[in-house]
Amino acid sequence: MVRPAMSPATRGEPARAPQRPIDEIRDTRLRAFRRVRAETEARAAHLSAEDQIVQSMEDASPAKWHRAHVTWFFEQFLLVPHDPAYRIFDERFPFLFNSYYVAAGPRHARPQRGLITRPNGEDVSAYRAHVDAAVERLIAQIPAVEAERVLAIVEIGLHHEQQHQELLVTDILHAFAQNPTDPVYDANWQPPRATQGPRGYVEVPAGIHAIGHEGDGFCFDNETPSHDELIPRVRIARHLITNGEWLEFIGAAGYTTPSLWLSDGWATVQTEGWQAPGHWRKKSDAWHMMTLGGLKPVDPAAPVQHVSYYEADAFARFAGKHLPSEAEWEVAARGAPIAGHLGLGAADTADVGALGELDSQWGCRQMVGNVWEWTSTAFGPYDGFVADPYKEYSEPWFGDHRVLRGGCFVTQPRLLRPTWRNFYTPDRRDVWAGFRTCAIG
Ligand SMILES: [Fe+2]
Repeated sequence: MVRPAMSPATRGEPARAPQRPIDEIRDTRLRAFRRVRAETEARAAHLSAEDQIVQSMEDASPAKWHRAHVTWFFEQFLLVPHDPAYRIFDERFPFLFNSYYVAAGPRHARPQRGLITRPNGEDVSAYRAHVDAAVERLIAQIPAVEAERVLAIVEIGLHHEQQHQELLVTDILHAFAQNPTDPVYDANWQPPRATQGPRGYVEVPAGIHAIGHEGDGFCFDNETPSHDELIPRVRIARHLITNGEWLEFIGAAGYTTPSLWLSDGWATVQTEGWQAPGHWRKKSDAWHMMTLGGLKPVDPAAPVQHVSYYEADAFARFAGKHLPSEAEWEVAARGAPIAGHLGLGAADTADVGALGELDSQWGCRQMVGNVWEWTSTAFGPYDGFVADPYKEYSEPWFGDHRVLRGGCFVTQPRLLRPTWRNFYTPDRRDVWAGFRTCAIG
């Protein structure tokens, strides 16, 4: 049950760079760097010093650790190899804040990250300031002949940090959900949109469709190569499964009917005592769920969240449907506008496309930027996959993870794209993950 903290890849808009003046590229990267680094601190600013050291489970990391780890990433992969004048801030930090990069040396055990009380939060802030200054200096001074390669690493670091911004709030929500006082992360937090418009299924015709990333924009290694896949005629739900539909599943004994569940899923239901999605709790005989805005009544019209792959699969069987494969999902998402919920922060809003409730080319709604969507596909390489030179972003996780697509409402809009393949083990439900169903034929 290991979820990787995010890691690097090497595709950082190489084709565009030579066509733009180097000073313009430097300026763009510098502004992006400042914006992303500030967003991390803005998300952490909602937390007390005590909040920032809590690790509520092995798969989660403390907020203070996230702040330091993304900083170590720039130090390890950008500054040390590319700035001869750079001096490591503290020789002990690489051991503490390396996540899982074997090639980057030994590291502190993940389950014990919550035991790191020293360095404290102020030390981490000083570490961030030290690295910020060095990165800004490097961006300004890197010789033009090296700029394309080095600035591509800056871009990787920014994507990495923005993914950790999502993990930071995912992990703190899990921590707060263990707290009997139901802490509020952000009183102004707004939940994902309730689904609007006609329901039902839309038909995606059978045929050969292009899957995977193309073009010059950033992507991770597992999104390539772009390739053709044959998909059958499939009907995909216009909408995500809602909390109201999940309440029907609960009422129909979904959690106590073993025939609905995969064997491992049923074992997990028994072991964990699942009776409802993650972060749900009965209060005054009504279901509530822990949110970033505190404990809230469950909204029947809103998409169900915090369900595992096992639960999504069981519901699909209960409904006489199945989960879309990731290829079916990607085809259905073609032309989908970015939902751009922007429930947290405002970084990169300029990059957001059309907002809201618009349909994809095929008529599916809310596919990108609402909640992560489980697919039926096991995470693995596309044919012709080539690992990036770090070799530690995708390859360690092929096999026992399931692919999720679409991004969620706390994902930075800059990262959202329909080809992005997220991956979690099938028992995880701390993530803002829901799903839609489909039917063949
Ligand atoms: Fe990471």
